[in-house]
Amino acid sequence: MKIAILPGDGIGTEIVAQAVRVLGALDLRFETETALVGGAAYDAHGHPLPEATLKLAQGADAVLFGAVGDWKYDKLERALRPEQAILGLRKSLGLFANFRPAICYEQLTHASSLKPELVAGLDILIIRELTGDIYFGQPRGRRIATDGHFPGAEEAFDTMRYSRPEIERIAHVAFQAARKRKASGSEGRVTSVDKANVLETFQFWKDVVSEVGLQYPDIALDHMYVDNAAMQLVKAPKRFDVVVTGNMFGDILSDEASMLTGSIGMLPSASLNSSNQGLYEPSHGSAPDIAGKGIANPLATILSAAMMLRFSLNQEASALRIEAAVQKVLAQGLRTADIYSEGTTRVSTREMGDAVVKAL
Ligand code: IPM
Ligand code: MG
Repeated sequence: MKIAILPGDGIGTEIVAQAVRVLGALDLRFETETALVGGAAYDAHGHPLPEATLKLAQGADAVLFGAVGDWKYDKLERALRPEQAILGLRKSLGLFANFRPAICYEQLTHASSLKPELVAGLDILIIRELTGDIYFGQPRGRRIATDGHFPGAEEAFDTMRYSRPEIERIAHVAFQAARKRKASGSEGRVTSVDKANVLETFQFWKDVVSEVGLQYPDIALDHMYVDNAAMQLVKAPKRFDVVVTGNMFGDILSDEASMLTGSIGMLPSASLNSSNQGLYEPSHGSAPDIAGKGIANPLATILSAAMMLRFSLNQEASALRIEAAVQKVLAQGLRTADIYSEGTTRVSTREMGDAVVKAL
């Protein structure tokens, strides 16, 4: 099992270090190799996704990724910005299926900004298409400006597009995920989120998802406009089971959903291609404002490592062990700053890692 470790920028290095310690505490043997990515790679090699880093990722069974980005790169031309590293990895590894579960742990019900009864027991799965949509439309890379900004320009535009095969494959992923969840007690529902009332791309999306849905008579399918979905997520989040949507809407809705769980610092994610090679990263960003302070929450990354064991490395038992260890440290009352509340014990990034290793 070969794992490429790409910590990236900001808190990325701190949180990935804890996830690597947790992996090391399992009785499994991995081959790991670490490389620079994002702003760190730009500083060292002049590019956010150097050839060597891309090769390492392509040759690995899985990539454990931290986060990229820092305001200090905002003035760079777009192609050299740290974010291009993650977009480039997604595209070149074909990681089209992004799983972003939003689970509210019992002990964190009160850390959510919503009323506890709205989020208690919440367990929903957002499936975001990750390699199409407006993120990868034309005229990407054919910009007039070279410094990433448009002084004096009269307009700028991006184009939104999806092809039938792109929608079909993500729809299948969603229906299959709903089926799997149904087997363990979920409702068996897919909610496809679109903006078919305004955008051609998403009328097409809706039509194709409906067609695919006919092959899954055991799974309920409903369609929801994205604005309504944003509202329903904070009004009655438990009405959802599996949500499937495009790249852009999925980006926004998954950030929103993360807050239902108490902290974005708790949310893991998996991005898979058709051969189950995957990139695993916390749903949150590089948080440069708290980098180096030892206060970041490593649990999203640790839980991402569990997803990696499950989806790409076929080690379900170890994945469950990590998840149980995380439950245990939460039950012990240990909290990083983002999930701290009165009566709990505040710990640092490293102490949280220590606790998970000990719980294992
Ligand atoms: C995410 C992030 C990325 C995205 C950025 C860093 C390019 O927000 O993974 O959700 O927009 O996809
Ligand atoms: Mg995002």
